[in-house]
Amino acid sequence: MYKIAVMPGDGTGPEVTAEAVKVLQAAAAKFGFKVELTEFDFGGERYKRTRETLPDSAIEELRKFDAILLGAIGHPDVPPGILEKGILLKARFELDQYINLRPVKLYPGVETPLKDKGPEHIDFVVVRENSGDAYTGTGGFTMRGTPHEVAVQSAVYSRHQVDRCLKFAFEYTQKHGKKARGKGETNTLALCGKTNVLTYIYDLWERAFHEMGKSQYSDIAREYYHVDATCMWFVKNPEWFDVIVTGNMFGDIITDLGAMIQGGMGIAAGGNLNPEGVSMFEPIGGSAPKYTGKGVINPLAAICAAQMMLQTLGEQKAADAIEQAVMHVTANKLKSLAAGRMGYSTSQVGDLVAERVA
Ligand code: IPM
Ligand code: MN
Repeated sequence: MYKIAVMPGDGTGPEVTAEAVKVLQAAAAKFGFKVELTEFDFGGERYKRTRETLPDSAIEELRKFDAILLGAIGHPDVPPGILEKGILLKARFELDQYINLRPVKLYPGVETPLKDKGPEHIDFVVVRENSGDAYTGTGGFTMRGTPHEVAVQSAVYSRHQVDRCLKFAFEYTQKHGKKARGKGETNTLALCGKTNVLTYIYDLWERAFHEMGKSQYSDIAREYYHVDATCMWFVKNPEWFDVIVTGNMFGDIITDLGAMIQGGMGIAAGGNLNPEGVSMFEPIGGSAPKYTGKGVINPLAAICAAQMMLQTLGEQKAADAIEQAVMHVTANKLKSLAAGRMGYSTSQVGDLVAERVA
């Protein structure tokens, strides 16, 4: 029995979350486990009513769950930053979800904008550090509003943050790298940084990366790429990549590019992991306000988030069955992953996956 907190959130979040829950229930029935779902209404509507984002009491409550399933956060009537900081980033930080795991995998039948690339070329994972960098809010203004205004926002990393992220990334590569999956000769972990300009924080990352790799994971091949070059190779030679580890800000940016080459926001999912605590799973895309309530949004990203959740909870067979079902649906059913062009409604896509799982 797993206790799952469900936060459908804003816009199309509730629609896609409903389909993820549908598939989750189908997997539970098929593979012999139970899920107990508790819904929370944090998001833009609640904020407008109560001025509350994610209160401390909710954080304490969320700690009691086995996992959190999130829909989307973002409301057109709420200024940017409030809900992101107050809900999404607050949960990540307070629950110390220090890893953001973002697979980039092109499923069969899915169109990629990359010419001449197919599922055999696009299959890698980004381990995005999720607790530090420019996201810590270190900085401020002086002389704000004057012509001499100065704004500073620092990229901050401690050795502890870097080491715990690298440890996760090496362990993940050992278990799920291309060799471990029978898809290559080596398991390879690449560090994505900017050692030519960010000569402090990425120097720390690079030293820690090689020290840990050499002393504890000598069986894993190590590579280094600057972030700008990483973007270039994502487009030109995505097949070079296996597992990539990077800081919070670069991880944010390269995973939007990653999402596009795997077919877009309709399919990209991520897990905010605290390997020692409560993790939170989400589709990477936003709340897509203009599609709200129309039944046209693609729920596969939310379904893939539920799949990652089951994998993290240790229900590997159920997770594999969901992934196989998603691949069956992309290969044989959907005309496109784009909202309104799938050839099916949001709930029909959920039905197709759930039926296949069952
Ligand atoms: C993401 C998002 C968030 C981030 C925003 C909404 C704060 O872009 O999950 O990638 O920057 O981490
Ligand atoms: Mn992002």
